[in-house]
Amino acid sequence: MLSSQDAIDLENTFGAKNYKPLPVVISRGSGIYVWDAEGKRYFDFLSAYSAVNQGHCHPKIVNALCEQAKQLTLTSRAFYNDILGSYAQFICQYFGYDRVLPMNTGVEGGETAVKLCRRWGYDKKGIPDGKAKVVFAEGNFWGRTLAAISSSTDQTCKARFGPYMPGFELVPYNDTEALDRALSDESVAGFMVEPIQGEAGVKVPDDGYLKAVRELCSKHNVLFIADEVQTGLARTGKRLACDHENVKPDILILGKALSGGLMPVSAVLADDEIMLGIQPGEHGSTYGGNPLACKVAMAALEVIEEENLAENSQSLGEIFRDELSEIQISWIREVRGKGLLNAVEVEPDANVSAWDLCLALRDAGLLAKPTHDTIIRFAPPLVISEDELREGLSIIKKVFTQFA
Ligand SMILES: Cc1ncc(COP(=O)(O)O)c(C=O)c1O
Repeated sequence: MLSSQDAIDLENTFGAKNYKPLPVVISRGSGIYVWDAEGKRYFDFLSAYSAVNQGHCHPKIVNALCEQAKQLTLTSRAFYNDILGSYAQFICQYFGYDRVLPMNTGVEGGETAVKLCRRWGYDKKGIPDGKAKVVFAEGNFWGRTLAAISSSTDQTCKARFGPYMPGFELVPYNDTEALDRALSDESVAGFMVEPIQGEAGVKVPDDGYLKAVRELCSKHNVLFIADEVQTGLARTGKRLACDHENVKPDILILGKALSGGLMPVSAVLADDEIMLGIQPGEHGSTYGGNPLACKVAMAALEVIEEENLAENSQSLGEIFRDELSEIQISWIREVRGKGLLNAVEVEPDANVSAWDLCLALRDAGLLAKPTHDTIIRFAPPLVISEDELREGLSIIKKVFTQFA
């Protein structure tokens, strides 16, 4: 078996340098814990950016994967398979939409949503062909394809990859007046937004923002596209983050925890008026809707209900924020979040960086990752118990106090 250092050296020698991982090599995971190559155990407080909401290697989901892997894994959509139909019915009934379009990664879900939206704009709203606009919120993140970076305001993922996708507009996040003005343009077909901006640093909008987004989209005949790839599937304390304000998006994008971390599975849900705008041959993916993914996704969704993950996330999230808000440390600018999607923001002029804090947390047995230079996201698997959360909190507090 490779040592941690060997594994790091190999990756650094032969891998592209498109990531800067925290130096820890994980070789095993179970529930809320992961172990490094030397056998040291860590609390996982990142959950693979909320893909592992159900905990690492959840036995029910692993079992679904193994059983289906022995039976049939891929047909492509050239043929029907005997699982996709049941999955489509299951996920549509679960979220209350007419139809699903299955894809693999989250960013493909976003691309699919934008295509559906543009097509709806031409067919149903009457926007002249080639003129449709889609509005995004500043600070958005939905992946790193050319379309996704075209809507980005983060120069790290955007700069010097142009030319960019036309027809994308930006408004400030959490600004309903700016949104009202932007959506009044007759050529706008949709507004795509994260209910909480994850990669931007767990930016939680004001209460009522999502309701206002819903109302403004309806008022201007514009599709409300919710990117719930990171916020969905119980992460914020409800099945969907949109459920906090009882709003239903016209297009819902899911990914990450839709497989509980076993494989890339994403889905786009919408009603007939939108989904039937796309005809055979106009969109798809070789692996999208494969029977292995369908079985895994059904198990992953069942676990969320059976284990009351949304309720757990809601109540433990309160404890997490209450406990961390109590500690008096001058460099903590803010503790914020919803459910178990939380962040601690470090003052920009502090003499400790988010990266240094994450290294110290690692040494103390808890893994978290900085986003931007000053924000640490804390998002443990939602199967965590109150005692385990308190144990994780005591590690965080101890490490933070060392730097106080
Ligand atoms: C809100 C949101 N949308 C989309 C994506 C892209 O997902 P993927 O990395 O699976 O393509 C991400 C990834 O972090 C995300 O946070």
